[in-house]
Amino acid sequence: MEISEARSLAHALRRLLQDAHTLIDESQPPAELVRRVTAHLGCGLEDLICVTRSFKNWEHASLQRGVDAYLEARGGAEWFGVSGTGREHADSIDVIAMSARAEMVGVGAVDYATVSVGPEETAEVVSFGLALTHAPGGEPLVLGVRGAVERFGRDDCRVELIGASRPAATAAGQEIERLMRDHDVLRGQILTFGVSEHRGNQLVTFLPRPSIDPEQVILPEGVLETIERHVVGIARHADVLRARGQHLKRGLLLHGPPGTGKTHTVRYLMGRMPGVTVVVMAGTGLRFVSEAAALARRLQPAIVVVEDVDLVARDRRFSEEGSPLLFTLFDAMDGVGADADVTFVLTTNRAEVLEQALADRPGRVDLAVEVPRPDARLRAALLRLYGGDLLAGIDLEPLVAGTDGMTASFFKELLRRAVLEALRSGGRAEALSQEHLSAALAEMTRDREELTRAMLGGAQPVRKGPLLPE
Ligand SMILES: Nc1ncnc2c1ncn2[C@@H]1O[C@H](COP(=O)(O)OP(=O)(O)OP(=O)(O)O)[C@@H](O)[C@H]1O
Ligand SMILES: [Mg+2]
Repeated sequence: MEISEARSLAHALRRLLQDAHTLIDESQPPAELVRRVTAHLGCGLEDLICVTRSFKNWEHASLQRGVDAYLEARGGAEWFGVSGTGREHADSIDVIAMSARAEMVGVGAVDYATVSVGPEETAEVVSFGLALTHAPGGEPLVLGVRGAVERFGRDDCRVELIGASRPAATAAGQEIERLMRDHDVLRGQILTFGVSEHRGNQLVTFLPRPSIDPEQVILPEGVLETIERHVVGIARHADVLRARGQHLKRGLLLHGPPGTGKTHTVRYLMGRMPGVTVVVMAGTGLRFVSEAAALARRLQPAIVVVEDVDLVARDRRFSEEGSPLLFTLFDAMDGVGADADVTFVLTTNRAEVLEQALADRPGRVDLAVEVPRPDARLRAALLRLYGGDLLAGIDLEPLVAGTDGMTASFFKELLRRAVLEALRSGGRAEALSQEHLSAALAEMTRDREELTRAMLGGAQPVRKGPLLPE
């Protein structure tokens, strides 16, 4: 006898025995879970296959939306759950099989979880549940959704498609993934990658979109316009450029001393581009830059912001030849096709660290803009921005002259301290005098000097990085 014949004979015998068992022993009907599944699928447990599609934990909300759309298109479906301990470990198909043998496992309540779908919005997702549905070709299928189970170190979410035909299950999986992409909750959001404190696994957090007026960004004449033209302007002509075979992908480097407004400018850009997906990478999240780039490509139009990129370049994991992480970033930038409406915005206060790497691998940054310390005119503008009415009747001239070399964030803090000074000296917070401002300035200058002495072992001038060619 052929081995396959032996196998089918064994299957047939087992089915016969099972059926006989149910027929003879009326007091022991097949477990409800098995009955539900096999009745819908029209075949025995032993003939079932399972196709699983797995996604990152932070895709769970999108997966749920894709699944919901899939079920909806097939007339909807009712979810049911599974009760019993130990079920979290096992694949749904095994749980179903388990319920045939063990009485503790059976039909139960659906498990739900709450996940973020926006900066202040959450949604319910199925974290353990099954639904009876059909494949795109009409074959019956059981669909399972499973969330991550952190305590067992499983940090993916999945959809399982159980049925008698593998091609049918595969087709359903593909359709769900397509719908998932159509209903992606990450699209048009501002996202940031991080690492969960407990398990160290990947997290994606939603951030609110800032709204900053151009008048609130104090930069030298033409700088903001240049930046905006490059990032926003090109996006506006995306279709025409693409049709003419021109590349859309762009790279912008903002460099300058700390506190001059690089991050501020990026935040302004985010506000200027509603509906554009933004992925912000900073700190430990930087290591996910490849994922971020892939996400941006998928959810374009998109911006990937890499903050303080010199920290990547100067990472201790530096090899002799250069920085693996910096090259990962470059590779990620290269990996996004030229026709993608994706902008990489890099910020740094140490342009010289990147200069060589960028020169060696050209084409990644097509616009480098210096965000300098403010000159006298800009310092006056910053005082007016952060002082507003508080400065009515005050001669700004000496203050402007006495703050050469200070950055924008300095002025913001100066005004805050002046208000505190006014309150301290028994005044009102809405009226500042020259004395309040001088006292605040003296205090800040003293603080700075002490800090400089402590940090640098003496008052050393801060060296500005060389300018990158535009
Ligand atoms: N050019 C500016 N115009 C108006 N406000 C500014 C400007 N630059 C900075 N500020 C204010 O100072 C704060 C800090 O500045 P910001 O974070 O943008 O500095 P940065 O250049 O990114 O510094 P770092 O290199 O340390 O990251 C901003 O949130 C903003 O309130
Ligand atoms: Mg910054």
